[in-house]
Amino acid sequence: MTTQFHPPDATPLKGKVVVLTGGALGVGSCIVRLLHTAGAHVFFGDILDEPGQALERELSNNDAKAKFIHCDVTSYADNLALFDAAYSACGHVDHAIANAGLGEQGNMFDSELTLESIKEEPKKSMSIVDVNVKGPLYFARVASAYLKQPDVNGKGNTAAADKSLTLVSSVAGFREDPGLYVYVASKHAILGLMRVLRGTLIQSKPHPIRTNAICPWMTKTRLVAGIEKVWAESGLPSNSPEDVARVIVGVLADGKVNGGTMYIEGGRSWNIEQGLLATRHEWLGAEREKELDRGTELMGGGEHWTANKSSQV
Ligand SMILES: NC(=O)c1ccc[n+]([C@@H]2O[C@H](COP(=O)([O-])OP(=O)(O)OC[C@H]3O[C@@H](n4cnc5c(N)ncnc54)[C@H](O)[C@@H]3O)[C@@H](O)[C@H]2O)c1
Repeated sequence: MTTQFHPPDATPLKGKVVVLTGGALGVGSCIVRLLHTAGAHVFFGDILDEPGQALERELSNNDAKAKFIHCDVTSYADNLALFDAAYSACGHVDHAIANAGLGEQGNMFDSELTLESIKEEPKKSMSIVDVNVKGPLYFARVASAYLKQPDVNGKGNTAAADKSLTLVSSVAGFREDPGLYVYVASKHAILGLMRVLRGTLIQSKPHPIRTNAICPWMTKTRLVAGIEKVWAESGLPSNSPEDVARVIVGVLADGKVNGGTMYIEGGRSWNIEQGLLATRHEWLGAEREKELDRGTELMGGGEHWTANKSSQV
């Protein structure tokens, strides 16, 4: 069974409106450039104003918009303002990419911890949870409302258009990376978020929203500065940020894939979610698979959870 994903080029994205976070540097800035070249209108947020504004100035030379908006993903108001800027300017939002992320900060499970040093709350480490988990949750919630809006310029035309939400996780989202305690936990959370949204947002009306996750392995950005040299010497494969951007833009342009997890290694990508689902009977057992599916079906659209006040605090 081959699960390789061959990203199509960005041609179908001409004239589309895309919102993304973490667009000032690294993978995000490559996504902005690729989309802009394809003629998409890009509204990108970041906390780094100087490189964000410089990128906006650099791309101000053609008809497609490239607009930088200061956005700290941990702020709900900033997420709202980012989507509102795109919607106000263009009358519709077509694709949304939660890309901003933070690498490991501090050492949450320092082997030198004592009964004295354990008293200090690990605030620095926990900032990762804010950026990598709270940020995408806020972003996805706001996206779920903006993406399904009928096109303001469409004069009431409610025909379904292709819409998507893409969440950037990591190879650390489906297996461990030694020492990256909080980062690994945060990126696993993103795969969980994609899985719980993929069956729900696809039912949005009038526009179904596809939800996918991206799991790059080693990618040459400032995030991996600490290990870049030893990695290069090892001969192990790595991605350029442009490689990762090409796959993400390909997921948007593809127009069909929903619920996928694109693992990216050495510039190539595979939809590992397909393999995981297709082989469940092998790693779970046929009986467990059947019972689990029956349980999921019983939950319907999940309305029992929110309707039952006794489980709300
Ligand atoms: N580089 C890798 O090897 C690698 C591997 C797997 C996944 N990823 C993921 O790819 C994504 C992009 O990372 P990158 O490698 O380009 O790193 P990067 O550091 O070059 O870019 C991350 C961007 O996110 C922005 N950002 C950080 N905190 C923010 C906040 N609170 N609000 C808004 N923006 C914020 C940064 O300013 C920066 O522009 C991240 O989610 C990262 O976890 C990277």
